[in-house]
Amino acid sequence: MKQRMQSARYQIDDHQIEVSLDGSPEFQTGAAEVLATEQSDITYGLPWYDKGYHAYNFLSPKEFINLRTGLTGSIAKIVVGSGISTDGFNLEDYHKVITSTEGHHRIAAKTRDLFAADFNFPVEELIPRFEALVGFGLTDFNPDSGQKMHIIVRINRPGSNDFNPPHKDMYGPWDREKRLLRFVNLWIPISGVTNRSSLPVAPGSHRLSEDKILRTFDGAVVEGNKYRVNAIAEWDGSNALIRPEVKYGQVLMFSSHLIHGLAKNEQVDTTRVALEFRLFRKD
Ligand SMILES: [Fe+2]
Repeated sequence: MKQRMQSARYQIDDHQIEVSLDGSPEFQTGAAEVLATEQSDITYGLPWYDKGYHAYNFLSPKEFINLRTGLTGSIAKIVVGSGISTDGFNLEDYHKVITSTEGHHRIAAKTRDLFAADFNFPVEELIPRFEALVGFGLTDFNPDSGQKMHIIVRINRPGSNDFNPPHKDMYGPWDREKRLLRFVNLWIPISGVTNRSSLPVAPGSHRLSEDKILRTFDGAVVEGNKYRVNAIAEWDGSNALIRPEVKYGQVLMFSSHLIHGLAKNEQVDTTRVALEFRLFRKD
């Protein structure tokens, strides 16, 4: 059954938020099948597979500071390019420098897709660390497109609508061409990340059958913003997400089949910055 939805309510840890879905395509459930399997989900069989996510240590304190400093410099350069002074610029105060949503969208368009070469974060050198954590080969080349994966910088201003709806990353190629791409998601906190701003996930949701998941199949509109990712309204009758603890120097790894999103920055005066990218299974 297809249905239109004006809004949806979600539980995030101890409180609820309601978001407008007005303008989104119709919501419906999928077929009675679990898409995450030993073949399709490269995190299958890892010790944390039942939950679908895990925070691993991967950078020393010094390496983390280098990463944050490099990224601050890269973003400051983009901000300066738009004619704004960045004396004493730090990422947590980004919203005090870029004060309009239009200005932020101009910056975000440039920061959204950065290659490792654009800033001080050698993903290629770090891939062996991620491989050692999971115990199999990984690559930042997307075997499907033959292209290197972009690193996405997520800048999320306090109280703003700079967040995705709950979604699964693997739905895009699945809905378009019934392809299940074999990758893992990585999310790295950079600054302003607390239990009021980190990335919410729905534990175990990757193991649900698609007929339990009510979602759009062609993008979404959340709070008036258009998204390429689909929006999920509920899963197995639940709308509950939790924000896992992820410390600086750690990476949150999660199944590409895990429901995640709605990372509303509920802090009053601190911008949150995180990196997001995918790595593919190297066969
Ligand atoms: Fe995602």
